[in-house]
Amino acid sequence: MHPPLIIGNWKMYGTAQKARDLAADLAGYRGEGLQSQMVVCPPFVYLPIVRHRLLGTKIALGAQDCHFLDQGPHTGDVGPGMLADIGCRYVILGHCERRLQHGETSALTLQKAEAAHKAGLCAVICIGETLSEREAGRTLEVLKIQWRASVPPGANALNTVIAYEPVWAIGTGLAPKPEDLVPIYRNLHMFALGPKGNKNLRILYGGSVKSENINDFRAIDGINGVLVGGASLDAQDFFKIAMSYN
Ligand code: PGA
Repeated sequence: MHPPLIIGNWKMYGTAQKARDLAADLAGYRGEGLQSQMVVCPPFVYLPIVRHRLLGTKIALGAQDCHFLDQGPHTGDVGPGMLADIGCRYVILGHCERRLQHGETSALTLQKAEAAHKAGLCAVICIGETLSEREAGRTLEVLKIQWRASVPPGANALNTVIAYEPVWAIGTGLAPKPEDLVPIYRNLHMFALGPKGNKNLRILYGGSVKSENINDFRAIDGINGVLVGGASLDAQDFFKIAMSYN
């Protein structure tokens, strides 16, 4: 199994100076001796600044989205090859904020993941149920549908990571109880069984993760790391989350 992944999603926050400072603070920790792999995903425009600051550290760079084509007349979009070209190794795809705010579907997420794979990027594919789906008892059904439609058949442990992010837990301070997460992860790892056996995909948890609650998630079998939003904008908090895996 690959090391646990601790991915920071900076979303649409910051300025050039804040990105530079945050990356410099993270670089100060260097990531040496960490048992987990840290990744930061700044807004597109700050990727080069952050990359520059992280050179020589073990912290990897990722983006928050990409197009499903490498080049073309697609105003405002960024191709996966471009991301690889400037040093990204990961790309978050199908985040619920893309699904809900931009109408992105699972089918589009799958296309993007295939394009990311071709470009040599690791796709971090997000799935998760809404509050009403959860209250209707449809969590597992929704996750299965999203997984089947978003994860390409060529997904493997090297090119794909899944992030289970309950929509209602994102940015709300709410998080599922451990007793609810245990059966969900058991099922998610069953979805990961390909026709040729276990693909050993890492399956992360995302939604209101902080240094104060990381141990609740870390303790659960089958959670192979975390996707962190708000708390990743604080270098110390983000590093503490990564350190909890040592
Ligand atoms: P949050 O965001 O940690 O701020 O809840 C997580 C995410 O959107 O990936």
